[in-house]
Amino acid sequence: MCGIIGYIGSKRALPIVIKALERLEYRGYDSIGVLVYDQDKKIVYLEKQPGRIQEFVKTAQLDKEGNLAIGHTRWATHGGVTKANAHPHWDCANKIFVVHNGIIENFQVIKNSLVEKGHKFRSETDTEVIPHLIEEFLKRGLEYKEAVGQSLKIVKGSFALLIFNSDYPQLLVGARFSGPLILGVGDNEFIFASDPTPISLIAKNVIYLDDGEVVFVDKGGSEAKASYTIESFLGHEVAVKKGVIDFEIKEADKGDFPDFMIKEIFEEPLALGNTLRGRLILQEGRTKLGGLEMIEKKLRQIEKVVMVACGTASYAALVGEYFFEEYAEITTEVDLASEFRYRKPIINDKTLVVAISQSGETADTLAAVKEAKEKGALTIGVVNVVGSTIARTVDAGIYSHAGSEFAVASTKAFTTQIADLVLLMIFLARDYSEYDISGNSARYSEYDISGNSARYNPERKSKERKMSLVMGRRILEELNQIPKKMRVVFEDAEKIKALAEKYARCKNFLYLGRKYNFPVALEGALKLKEVSYIHAEACPAGEMKHGPIALIDENFPSLVLAPEDSVYEKTVSNIQEIKARKGKVIAVTTAGNQDLEKLVDDVIYIPKTLEMLTPLLSVIPLHLFAYYLAKKLGRDVDRPRNLAKSVTVE
Ligand code: M6R
Repeated sequence: MCGIIGYIGSKRALPIVIKALERLEYRGYDSIGVLVYDQDKKIVYLEKQPGRIQEFVKTAQLDKEGNLAIGHTRWATHGGVTKANAHPHWDCANKIFVVHNGIIENFQVIKNSLVEKGHKFRSETDTEVIPHLIEEFLKRGLEYKEAVGQSLKIVKGSFALLIFNSDYPQLLVGARFSGPLILGVGDNEFIFASDPTPISLIAKNVIYLDDGEVVFVDKGGSEAKASYTIESFLGHEVAVKKGVIDFEIKEADKGDFPDFMIKEIFEEPLALGNTLRGRLILQEGRTKLGGLEMIEKKLRQIEKVVMVACGTASYAALVGEYFFEEYAEITTEVDLASEFRYRKPIINDKTLVVAISQSGETADTLAAVKEAKEKGALTIGVVNVVGSTIARTVDAGIYSHAGSEFAVASTKAFTTQIADLVLLMIFLARDYSEYDISGNSARYSEYDISGNSARYNPERKSKERKMSLVMGRRILEELNQIPKKMRVVFEDAEKIKALAEKYARCKNFLYLGRKYNFPVALEGALKLKEVSYIHAEACPAGEMKHGPIALIDENFPSLVLAPEDSVYEKTVSNIQEIKARKGKVIAVTTAGNQDLEKLVDDVIYIPKTLEMLTPLLSVIPLHLFAYYLAKKLGRDVDRPRNLAKSVTVE
């Protein structure tokens, strides 16, 4: 989604801004624009066009001098992908320039009133009202800073924006309300960015802006030092939030891989290993989650868990819902963040709201966190991007440590999110009680590798959340083996590639799974449609006969997740139902199970593991299948059409 960059300092600004925009490319965009101000000639240069940065740098005039520049990658919301709609946008007098990420919800009302006052608009965007509004306030005699503040008070919606006024060429203004914006503070130079990725180009120290804050960065005169002031346009007291980007953000590097997506899929074992590192206390069957220690007391009082997330992260949450209820016996619900606040959820100070997000910037998930906090819930984040808005908004958190995900389609984030949720579940289930060193838990007496383990003891007190030492240990030991087992699945990558190519002409796919593997079916279908543009839908295998089976014929293949687990026989019955209607079936099952060979058209094997952990393995063939099929069709797998990596508007 839109990326914004601003530089003010003593270096040539344009190359820095272009480089920074390249680092934001992964967010997804359709147009690009830059503005540079040459202080010596007192001239503003502006270039914008639809398309990619690589074409932009070839065709645009980018040899301009100037120590102040702003840049923008646009992901269209209001108005088509045209040069006129690309940012920056400016006022009637060609003086006030704005780049914006977000949506101005009341733009039409503002625009109508400005048009009545004689303002001429050049684009269809919501953004353009901002420079005209500032211009209008200046006409009425307000000082520049006041005019900016008044305008920001009037616009409703979500925004992160940068404003440059050529009458105040030493000033660069940044403001945010529900949109991501960070200020990097270098040595007498500043960089604004939508996320931390480009900040390290010039700075390590950052200022995190809060909603309702506007920052004026002043370059100062030739002798003076550059400085900044932060004000609130909503009237709240400003407490400056400083931070340090103490991790080196690697340049987007594909290594030996042709695309980021396949690189990130192959990184899933490594990423998972990083998620687990230092967090497993195997001997005690417990997890160490430093980020939760300060809220441990409150965690002990929660009675319900609500997970909020979007897209792939919501499927990780669904997997979590199954094991939170089965193993920790905590009532757990999953809410799509985009619906959460509109359905008036019943939550209170005994509710734990877990926000799951790779980017940590997803507007819907952030809004859900804010709603939960307002209602008094305890909030924690399962977030990948360190220092992101959601990570800073929640009460506490567990980072995913998946490493940067550059491909728009989320892959390694999914498996690390599930792993984080396993760690959290055990943290809740085991740490709630005294450990039973003998391993004879009040709740679970036995388990087996197929995972049909959680033998419920009806005599257990209803509020006593207790997982036995033996169970905690068993789950964690097995979780620790998953990276190794994932690598075994990758040995079949060529076979999965051949399968994807075999089915590449199909126009539709049905993904089916039960219990822990139903969310995996959702994830597989989403991945396929995102990167190949082929229609794919998923449903719980048991739901198929309630409707979707009508779709099945010889041209409508099904991808069925059928590991040997507690619902295996039932899933096999569903496969039979498909075969009886001449549907083609690709099955994912457990290594050593030969039974499906004769029944289905193609089989992919995954190593045996606990039932609750099968999603960590069964999703790998689905990620590979989507990738290879999309490649066969010649798709741009890293930047699929119409999609953004970071969805920062509601
Ligand atoms: O950054 P988040 O995890 O909050 O993003 C949530 C979804 O937008 C994201 O998972 C999306 O569905 C991906 N394109 C899936 O591949």
